Amino acid sequence: MQAFTYQNPTKIVFGKGTVAQLGGLIEPFGKTVLLVYGSGSIKRTGLYDEVKNQLESIGATVVELSGIEPNPRLSTVNRGIGLCRSEGVDFILAVGGGSVLDASKAIAAGARYDGDVWDFFMHKAKIGDALPMGAVLTLSATGSEMNGNAVVSNWEAKQKRSFGSIHTYPRFSILDPTLTFSVPRDQTVNGVVDIMSHVFEQYFSLTTDVPLQERLCESILQTVIENAEIALENPENYEARANLMLCGTLALNGGLISVGMTNDWASHGIEHEISAIYDIPHGAGLSIVFPNWMKYVYNERIDRFAQYAERVWGIERGAKSDEEMALAGISATRAFFTRIGAPATLSFYDIGEEHLDVMAREAVLFGPIGNFKKLNRDDVKEILVMAL
Ligand code: NZQ
Ligand code: ZN
Repeated sequence: MQAFTYQNPTKIVFGKGTVAQLGGLIEPFGKTVLLVYGSGSIKRTGLYDEVKNQLESIGATVVELSGIEPNPRLSTVNRGIGLCRSEGVDFILAVGGGSVLDASKAIAAGARYDGDVWDFFMHKAKIGDALPMGAVLTLSATGSEMNGNAVVSNWEAKQKRSFGSIHTYPRFSILDPTLTFSVPRDQTVNGVVDIMSHVFEQYFSLTTDVPLQERLCESILQTVIENAEIALENPENYEARANLMLCGTLALNGGLISVGMTNDWASHGIEHEISAIYDIPHGAGLSIVFPNWMKYVYNERIDRFAQYAERVWGIERGAKSDEEMALAGISATRAFFTRIGAPATLSFYDIGEEHLDVMAREAVLFGPIGNFKKLNRDDVKEILVMAL
């Protein structure tokens, strides 16, 4: 195990009816609140009214920024930054999925920075301060509710980039599983794939002698697998939704499950290049990329892949070689994604070879990606070709 420092400042308020605590959670931060949300799901479910009532109960002045796109755009983030400045915003409240939370974090950092917020995404500047923000989460997927990361698309430049900072962790996140009852089937599937992918990025590591971290990863994967189909069959099953929500949060909350380990993140880098050009949902892109990445790299540490097959998918070793086990685990992953309805190929989105070279080039813009196996431009291109 490597040396590590772990700090996570986000307060989690979990359970049915916890939106009733929202006013009290915001009050210490000031009176003028930027309420950030997406294209209307929170109005259809009634959450918008509940949130507005909470804000009213503390006498807050509310400034609204709606229409955050899935795969949120830099232009929208800049509108939010403008509102923070012109309206003297004290606190940013994100109500929605990962896109709304990420946009809010970018607004929070940009509002306290004199330069262009895109600098943070291009590694040209480091975040030194941010407006405080908090979240009411409505979709289990990204972990954005308990991490400092934001992913934003610069649509004009066809770039999708991320930043991570201790200053952009939500001050609190309200996690009420009932708020995810209305998540449509395809978004639930995308969320399941995203949660599992976050664990994969940490679990497939060259770091040895980390038995607790391995088991934390494996137990999150098993819990997601057990609950995904229950939630898909019965979207209002509270326990299944609650389990998925907790898994999503723990899978990517600043790396708790993989402290002392190197992480990979190449598949996320590759997926972001696909969504940067084609604007496909993040989880769907991961479903296409991840099993191909696995096939491409499993030889780097076949024992970890064999262990994955045995412990996560319950594949019996019998007389199987490590390689047979590894391949069986990868097949089980693809079969599960297919069973829940996640796509397997780029052609599902009519994506052909046209832009693979650009994606491969952009994926390694700041150097080779991944740690399990360092991938250069040719490696990324090969994985994309496998995904066609
Ligand atoms: O816009 P609204 O009306 O809210 O509808 C959204 C959106 O259309 C809908 N939705 C959300 N909650 C709902 C609901 N519909 C009905 N009922 C509800 N309760 O779902 C659609 C997708 O929402 P979005 O926020 O885009 O999904 P997700 O949470 O999967 O976020 C994806 C974004 O997060 C980034 C992705 O790249 C992508 O841009 N990521 C952020 C990470 C982070 N901050 O740590 C890590 C991830 O790896 C990921 O890259
Ligand atoms: Zn992800």
